[in-house]
Amino acid sequence: MLNLKGRTVARSVEERLGSTLLEQALAAGVDWSFNCSRGTCARCRCFVQEGADLLEEPTDAEWDRLGPDELDEGYRLGCQAVVKKPGDISAVNRTYF
Ligand code: FES
Repeated sequence: MLNLKGRTVARSVEERLGSTLLEQALAAGVDWSFNCSRGTCARCRCFVQEGADLLEEPTDAEWDRLGPDELDEGYRLGCQAVVKKPGDISAVNRTYF
């Protein structure tokens, strides 16, 4: 199960392997902020509360944009974080601004 919380809308959906958190949030009607969809604007930044190990490793864009401290704390870019394994994942969209 994938639990996604946007600015005002939260939804739980069946996770889709190979899709990003952002793609699944938008498909579910969650008001998840985004702009570029390619890892540069960071508007899609999110905090992964549960299931970080079910996501693919951070991309080069995430290392560049977020850096090791934020990645260690559990932040990811929604447009880059791809679900790789089934299970429970919870993520909250947390933009800088
Ligand atoms: S939408 Fe711009 S970094 Fe994800």
